[in-house]
Amino acid sequence: MTTLTIMPSGKTIDAEPGTSLLKAILASGETLVSQCGGEAKCGKCHVYVLEGRKSVSRIAALENGVLDTIIGIGSKSRLACQALLGTEPVTVELLGAMSGG
Ligand code: FES
Repeated sequence: MTTLTIMPSGKTIDAEPGTSLLKAILASGETLVSQCGGEAKCGKCHVYVLEGRKSVSRIAALENGVLDTIIGIGSKSRLACQALLGTEPVTVELLGAMSGG
């Protein structure tokens, strides 16, 4: 088990390594839009990974292409449906209305 902290609420949950950030965030009861159902198409699940970036799966070409279409991306940006948790604790920030492409 690893720990996921979700900002801005500060909610912390336990999650299995290999779980996508999207699944873990939804399991926590937080809201995150996933229009494409987690297929790296809609860009709506854009989050910032604030801490533990090394513990999250690397960005693949598909995700990179979608991130490129989103306004407001930065070095912390990930698609929550594509980023899988590793074994170290991770902190993410939900972007609300800022999210989406
Ligand atoms: S849910 Fe659509 S890109 Fe992640």
